[in-house]
Amino acid sequence: MATHDIVGFSIVVVLLATSVITTAGCKLSPSHYQSTCPKALSIVRAGVAKAIKNETRTGASLLRLHFHDCFVNGCDASILLDDTPSFVGEKTAAPNNNSVRGFEVIDRIKASLEKECPGVVSCADIVALAARDSVVHLGGPSWTVSLGRRDSITASRSLANTLPSPASNLSALITSFAAKGLSVKNMVALSGSHTIGLARCSSFRGRIYNDSNIDTSFAHKLQKTCPKIGNDSVLQRLDIQTPTFFDNLYYHNLLQKKGLLHSDQELFNGSSVDSLVKKYACDTEKFFRDFVRAMIKMSEIKPPKGSNGQIRKNCRKVNQV
Ligand code: HEM
Ligand SMILES: *[C@@H]1O[C@H](CO)[C@@H](O)[C@H](O)[C@H]1NC(C)=O
Ligand SMILES: *[C@@H]1O[C@H](CO)[C@@H](O)[C@H](O)[C@H]1NC(C)=O
Ligand SMILES: *[C@@H]1O[C@H](CO)[C@@H](O)[C@H](O)[C@H]1NC(C)=O
Ligand SMILES: *[C@@H]1O[C@H](CO)[C@@H](O)[C@H](O)[C@H]1NC(C)=O
Ligand SMILES: *[C@@H]1O[C@H](CO)[C@@H](O)[C@H](O)[C@H]1NC(C)=O
Ligand SMILES: *[C@@H]1O[C@H](CO)[C@@H](O)[C@H](O)[C@H]1NC(C)=O
Repeated sequence: MATHDIVGFSIVVVLLATSVITTAGCKLSPSHYQSTCPKALSIVRAGVAKAIKNETRTGASLLRLHFHDCFVNGCDASILLDDTPSFVGEKTAAPNNNSVRGFEVIDRIKASLEKECPGVVSCADIVALAARDSVVHLGGPSWTVSLGRRDSITASRSLANTLPSPASNLSALITSFAAKGLSVKNMVALSGSHTIGLARCSSFRGRIYNDSNIDTSFAHKLQKTCPKIGNDSVLQRLDIQTPTFFDNLYYHNLLQKKGLLHSDQELFNGSSVDSLVKKYACDTEKFFRDFVRAMIKMSEIKPPKGSNGQIRKNCRKVNQV
C-alpha cells in the first residue's frame, strides 16, 4: 500500500468516526439536515402554516407539545408514542390526556418528510421546529433551532405526571423548572407562552372559585360557563385579550389579576418575581429576547445518557426491528 493511500484511509476513518459521533446525538447543529434533507425546514414551515390556517389554535398546541415533550426525559418525541395494549405512554398521563393537541399535524408533516427523504428527519426535531414556526407565524420572535435530536424508544407516564400543574404555587414552579436546568427568569419568560391558546374549565376552576388574588368581575364572568361541577371541557382564552397573537399582553393580564390559571397569577402575587413580570409587561423586546433564550435552552434538554434513540418512521410508534 502506498503511503498516500494509508493517509487517505486514515482520513476516511476519522471522518466516519466524526459522523458516527454527531449522529449519536452528542451535538445539535442548525445545519444537521443541510445535505441529507435540504427541504426539511421549509416542509415543516409549510405544514405548520397550513395547520394554523385551518385552525388558529394549532399554533398554541404545537408550542405546548414541545414543552411537554422536553420536560419528560428531554426533547425526544416520547410524547408522540401511542398507548398500545402492551405499552403505556405519555399521551394519557393526567397533564396530557384530552389536553395536549397537534399529533395529526406532526403526522402530516412527518409523512411529507418521509416522501422527500425517508428515515432522515427525527420526530423530535419536527416538534422543535414546529414550535418555533408556530410562534413566528403568530407574530412572535424567531430563533435558530439546532437539530439532530433522536427519537426515544420509550416513554414515561409517571414522569409525565410530574409536569407542572396549574394548581402549583410559585416555589413548586421554580423547583420544577430548576430540575430541568431552567432558571426563574427562564420560567417566567416561558410562561409568556400563555399569551396564546386555550384552557379547559377543569384547569382553572380552582382559581375562579377559591383564589383571592383574582379580579372580581373577571372571576364572575368565567363562572358563567365554568360551573363548580360540570362543563369540564369548556374552553377559555389563556390571554383574554389576544389569544391568537404572540405578544406580551399575558403579563398585562397578570398586573390586573386576570391570569387564567392559578399558576399564572403566582408569578405576580407579591414576590420578588413581580418585577420581572412588570418588565415583560412594558418591554416586548426584552420579553422576546428572554423568551428566545429560554426556548433554546428548553429545546436542548437532553435525554438521559445512554439513550441513543432512533429516527422513527412513524412518530406514533417505535420502528420494528
Ligand atoms: C409554568 C408552568 C406551566 C403550567 C402549570 C402550565 C399549565 C397549562 C395548562 C393547565 C394549560 C391548559 C391545558 C388544558 O386545560 O387543556 C396550558 C396551556 C398551554 N400551555 Fe402551559 N403551562 C406551563 C408552562 C408552559 C410552557 C413553558 C409553555 C411553552 C413553552 C406552555 C405553553 C402552553 C400553551 C401554548 C397552551 C395552550 C395550548 C392550546 O391551546 O392547545 N405552557 N398550560
Ligand atoms: C382542521 O381543523 C379541524 C378542527 O377545527 C380538525 O378537526 C381537522 O383535522 C383539521 N384539518 C386539517 C387538514 O388540518
Ligand atoms: C383519558 O381520558 C379518557 C377520556 O377521554 C378516559 O377514558 C381515560 O380513562 C383517561 N386515561 C387516563 C389514564 O386517565
Ligand atoms: C407549595 O406547594 C408545595 C407542593 O404542593 C408545598 O409543599 C409547599 O408547602 C407550598 N409552599 C407554599 C409557600 O405554599
Ligand atoms: C375550593 O377550596 C375548598 C376548600 O379547600 C375545596 O374543598 C374545594 O374543592 C375548592 N374548590 C374548587 C373548585 O377547587
Ligand atoms: C397571594 O398573596 C396574598 C397576599 O400576600 C396571599 O394571601 C395569597 O394566599 C396568595 N395567593 C393567592 C392564590 O391568593
Ligand atoms: C356550560 O357551557 C356553556 C357554553 O359552552 C354555557 O352556555 C352553559 O351555561 C354552561 N353551563 C353551566 C352550568 O355553567
